[in-house]
Amino acid sequence: MAQFRKNIALIRNHIGQRLLCFPVKANAYGHGLCGMGKAAQDAGVDYLGVAHLKEGIQLRESGITLPILIFGAIHEDQILDLVNFNLEFSISSRFKANLAAEKCKILGRKCRVHLEVDTGMQRTGVRPATARELLPHLKTLGSLEVVGVYSHLATADPANDPFALKQIRVFQQLLSEPAFQQANLIRHIANSGGTTFFPEAYLDMVRPSFLTLGYLPQDCPASLRDLAPCFSLKAKVSYFKVVPKGAGISYGHSYITPKQTRIVTVPVGYGDGYRRALSNRGSVLIRGKRFLMRGTICMDQFMVDVGDEEVFVGDEVVLIGKQGREEITVDEVAKQCDTIPYEVLCLLNERIPRVYLEQG
Ligand SMILES: Cc1ncc(COP(=O)(O)O)c(C=O)c1O
Repeated sequence: MAQFRKNIALIRNHIGQRLLCFPVKANAYGHGLCGMGKAAQDAGVDYLGVAHLKEGIQLRESGITLPILIFGAIHEDQILDLVNFNLEFSISSRFKANLAAEKCKILGRKCRVHLEVDTGMQRTGVRPATARELLPHLKTLGSLEVVGVYSHLATADPANDPFALKQIRVFQQLLSEPAFQQANLIRHIANSGGTTFFPEAYLDMVRPSFLTLGYLPQDCPASLRDLAPCFSLKAKVSYFKVVPKGAGISYGHSYITPKQTRIVTVPVGYGDGYRRALSNRGSVLIRGKRFLMRGTICMDQFMVDVGDEEVFVGDEVVLIGKQGREEITVDEVAKQCDTIPYEVLCLLNERIPRVYLEQG
């Protein structure tokens, strides 16, 4: 986790005195929800963000005491848990706000909420004109304490992206209005792209996840260049055999050995969320060398043609990460699957044990 702590220190340095929220939704982008939540708490992060109530409860049950904001829209029957687990949530409609306030009154409790404003993502959140009227209304409800107001950028990756600039301007304009001049209101809009490229979007808090995990966009500023991934995906060779020339490998025999060769088996498959699209395309690292996966990836295993190389059962296999001088990046895997790195990471499921090493 040393690299993760380093990433946080670099981002803190980059954003100055703002609060840092680390979104850990979707199992912290595959890195492990509670493990990363705990690491973030230990590293002095100010807030955690999740998509759903269930994720917030898991964090609380694992002993996380940081403020946790739920980004997704909530349902009426979740209010009791939201209050009991001390979870902050997003208000994205007057109707839900009224329901939440009513429920809280019955419970005799108060809950902390963030008003979500849609400045151009067209996902959740009220439009700025509605936000203008809704904020004063929320304050009259008594049982909702409005602690934040936020929006989300749709296109912040390229520096100077005009639509991101437009969203930031719309949000800033709204925030400059009298209703939003509340002391201690946490105003936030910057995700990884916003945090990397748009200082005007920092406001009171930033919410970068992908960046905090060490994944850099192109053309990122020098102050962030030492960020690095803190994640690798590894297995061990589980089987070895010599196969003759002309042998079909795995289901459907989509690979036929061109000569006698050594085939090793790796116990990872699409049942772990490791994409079947990598069949006959993806690589692994063994003993510091790169080898191709051969044949179709099975549910629990895949095969690698190691040619004449000496490889043994128990040898470390790197599917994502570094070994010796070689590296397989999430970006490379994503391109081979015709998707984005976020999806590759999020799909790696609970069957893969997460191990948190102090030096990594
Ligand atoms: C509301 C919200 N904030 C922040 C983030 C973090 O995004 P990123 O990982 O691109 O920084 C997300 C992720 O989709 C999000 O939905």
